[in-house]
Amino acid sequence: MRVKLLFVIISTLSLFLAVVLLSPSTPVWKPSHSLNSPNSSKSDIWSVTRIVEWRPCNWWLQSHLTPLPAKSNGYIRVDCYGGLNQMRRDFCDGVGIARLLNATLVLPKFEVAAYWNESSGFADVFDVNYFIKRMNGFVKVVRELPPEISSKEPHRVDCSKRKGQFDYIESVLPSLLKYHYISITPAMSQRRDRYPHYAKAALCQACYSALRLTKSLEKKATELLEAIPKPFLSLHLRFEPDMVAYSQCQYSGLSPTSMKAIEAARGDDRKPWTGEAARIWRNRGKCPLTSNETAFILQALSIPTNTNIYLAAGDGLMEFEGLTSTFTNIFTKSALLSSEDFKSMHGNTKAALDYYISINSDSYVATYFGNMDKMVAAMRAFKGLYKTLFLSRRAFAEFTSKGLEGKQLMQALRKAHNDDFTMGRGSALPDCFCEFKL
Ligand SMILES: *[C@@H]1O[C@H](CO)[C@@H](O)[C@H](O)[C@H]1NC(C)=O
Ligand SMILES: *[C@@H]1O[C@H](CO)[C@@H](O)[C@H](O)[C@H]1NC(C)=O
Ligand SMILES: *[C@@H]1O[C@H](CO)[C@@H](O)[C@H](O)[C@H]1NC(C)=O
Ligand SMILES: *[C@@H]1O[C@H](CO)[C@@H](O)[C@H](O)[C@H]1NC(C)=O
Repeated sequence: MRVKLLFVIISTLSLFLAVVLLSPSTPVWKPSHSLNSPNSSKSDIWSVTRIVEWRPCNWWLQSHLTPLPAKSNGYIRVDCYGGLNQMRRDFCDGVGIARLLNATLVLPKFEVAAYWNESSGFADVFDVNYFIKRMNGFVKVVRELPPEISSKEPHRVDCSKRKGQFDYIESVLPSLLKYHYISITPAMSQRRDRYPHYAKAALCQACYSALRLTKSLEKKATELLEAIPKPFLSLHLRFEPDMVAYSQCQYSGLSPTSMKAIEAARGDDRKPWTGEAARIWRNRGKCPLTSNETAFILQALSIPTNTNIYLAAGDGLMEFEGLTSTFTNIFTKSALLSSEDFKSMHGNTKAALDYYISINSDSYVATYFGNMDKMVAAMRAFKGLYKTLFLSRRAFAEFTSKGLEGKQLMQALRKAHNDDFTMGRGSALPDCFCEFKL
């Protein structure tokens, strides 16, 4: 019995040692283990014991064992639209499709002008050499097209409006074989369960292991990271005019400036819900959290009000006084970067900084479940950073609509978020990560 116990202790210790010795070192700075301030009376949400954790799936990590096809079916360029993280998501999808179709991948087109009013292509944000190197064995990538097709524009295949079970082999392969060079925009919310593992693995590798910022962007991001006091929480507060307009939710108590900004962002087809419809919509968790609501939930999670918080948010963030009036150590990139630096920066660059800070922070809290939040949560899971939480808009709406307030509301919110954190809910994209019982 004693021997057995000793054996267990020794193997546990050596496992621990192995983990410590083998874990990749973080270049800049390692997150510490506790965000608790010494005098916080109640233990915060991060001290809750998790029973489930998401880790990269084995079929991904082992997929270099599947050899690439000897012959390529043609060239595919992925055309990406929207914000930085949406483009990244579509690009990752496109890499999986290229592998599925046994195609050769050309560097993607990042069509940013429409959203950001700027031009900033793939190579301005991501390190191309690194990408090509890291994709070795997962999918064939070329930097330059062969001369006989390099002068042609690709045949365009737009799948962005397609939904559900959409078969790329059936509907896209014929075009690829016919034109030899096509560009695609992947379908939204595509199900990939039926992809062979090697195609899914190409997607995962591209998204989480082969994309890193360019040297100059990473330098700027590192400077910013160094300027933030440690330990810190990165908070993605998404109470911006476009988001609020898009959500079709109505808020009372907003300042006239905010109301104007929301009105300006609202198209004719995006009128806010009213009456009973508005109530149901809100209870389904469709309404972005305000700063006030966010501050309240953070307190319910016993996150001390003197916690260092980096505000990962766009320039248009509204009503953030609701947060700064309670949480006093708030840091923004506009305050930490020199003003010339900041003014010359593009929207994509700023989004890249927020992303970088958020995958390197001690903890990450998102108030929404958008493209950036999903990307950051998955990257954090990939890096073994598990203090990641999505605040529940639905729980907040449900409890407040039942009339809970004050201490009771806090307790209910704490319980709901404890459960989410325990189960690792939302802390990684299911496509590339597998549930691991702790
Ligand atoms: C923690 O203690 C320090 C002094 O020891 C005090 O200034 C600070 O307000 C306290 N913080 C909290 C959250 O109670
Ligand atoms: C891709 O190549 C593999 C063999 O390497 C083959 O099994 C598969 O059917 C091919 N798929 C397409 C769409 O050509
Ligand atoms: C886009 O940029 C141009 C020139 O910098 C500017 O005149 C224009 O107002 C901008 N448009 C928007 C929608 O911001
Ligand atoms: C947020 O709370 C402050 C007081 O803490 C209040 O003045 C303001 O109206 C609130 N804003 C919203 C949008 O509820």
